[in-house]
Amino acid sequence: MYNVYVIIPAAGKGARMKSEVKKQFLKLRDKPVIRHTLDVFIENDIVKGIVVVSAEEDIDIYRKIFDDVQHDILIISGGKTRQQSVYNGLLALEQNFSLEDNDIVTVHDGARPLVTQDVVKRTVNAAVVHGACIAAVNVKDTVKLIDGRYVADTLPREKLVAVQTPQAFKYEILKKAHENAVLNAFIGTDDASLVERSGYRVYVTEGSYDNIKITTPEDMILADALMRKRYSHNTVNNFAVRVGMGYDVHKLVKDRRLILGGVKIEHYLGLKGHSDADVLVHAIMDALLGACGQRDIGVHFPDTDDKYRGIYSIDLLKRVRDILSDDYFINNIDAVIMAERPRLAPHIEKMRKNIADALKIDVRIVNIKATTTEKLGFVGREEGIAAQAVVSLTKVI
Ligand code: CTP
Ligand code: MG
Repeated sequence: MYNVYVIIPAAGKGARMKSEVKKQFLKLRDKPVIRHTLDVFIENDIVKGIVVVSAEEDIDIYRKIFDDVQHDILIISGGKTRQQSVYNGLLALEQNFSLEDNDIVTVHDGARPLVTQDVVKRTVNAAVVHGACIAAVNVKDTVKLIDGRYVADTLPREKLVAVQTPQAFKYEILKKAHENAVLNAFIGTDDASLVERSGYRVYVTEGSYDNIKITTPEDMILADALMRKRYSHNTVNNFAVRVGMGYDVHKLVKDRRLILGGVKIEHYLGLKGHSDADVLVHAIMDALLGACGQRDIGVHFPDTDDKYRGIYSIDLLKRVRDILSDDYFINNIDAVIMAERPRLAPHIEKMRKNIADALKIDVRIVNIKATTTEKLGFVGREEGIAAQAVVSLTKVI
């Protein structure tokens, strides 16, 4: 029998990402990059111990990101090079567990959050058989050796693979490889290169084109798209696309202002209500809350609460945006105002802009219409104004 341990080097500076926040802490969908990576190994039952290698100054940040994790995760300081960081991780495992020669130590970059259980299992299983295994994919591009700005040679594509992590090794093999590298002052960009130099054969198993290493800014866009693709088939948390509807009516009275979509409109009547009675914004808020299963505005902003008296509904809409947070993307909003008078067409563009700005979305996905009801019903009799809205959201994960 053997145990499986994992080292996650995440002590790099992320220089090529050129972002203020280090790439391992950038948010990808619902959580930081590093948390995606860690969760893959937490969810893997065969893993006995995990060490995350951090830059000295970031240890507290990692603690915070992992604070709700049920497993014991070792968080230790890394070194100047990735290789040194992995070696520190190996030493930390030795100090905390009694490693046996046949145990498997898997190294996986913190910056590869899209790794799947399949790839991890394949790599670990092959390492059990072959002693050393790396995940890799066939290269898609033709690869050439260059000399300055001139081509020196064209390499045979069918013999080339692009190497990823995980890379898994029998403990004994990885340990020797790192010790040899220290003795020979060799620095490699992956662990397998150290193992190869120590004279071991490294088995190559199939990685995944999804398993990208987040390195430059466009990788974040790619990672986001890949995650979206992955979760769009997720039925556990309901469908990724959700819809909501909202309906509201307010009474027309004298001595009140008429505010629709955040626009003050000249009219001899206004809408009565606890807030500014912006019936359009209320319908949209109800639709948004409905789409994410958050009941309605009455629950969130009760009209029995004095702090909402006379409040500008656009400000409440901003709070609804915060409720949606980063978990939801608004696909589009469509709403209709039912009013006999006044004529609303001249105000529609401003309403769209107010709503889009409050929700921080593109105005092109906000559609607003107005209609009369041909003098029929309470709207036709100008007793009140009604509004209806539907929205579509994409739920992330
Ligand atoms: N890494 C590490 N210790 C280092 C350097 C890198 O633990 N001294 C980790 C990185 O945090 C990353 C993985 O090794 O998870 C792969 O390295 P790379 O993609 O090169 O990340 P960075 O070194 O952070 O990025 P850059 O080279 O752009 O600065
Ligand atoms: Mg680097």
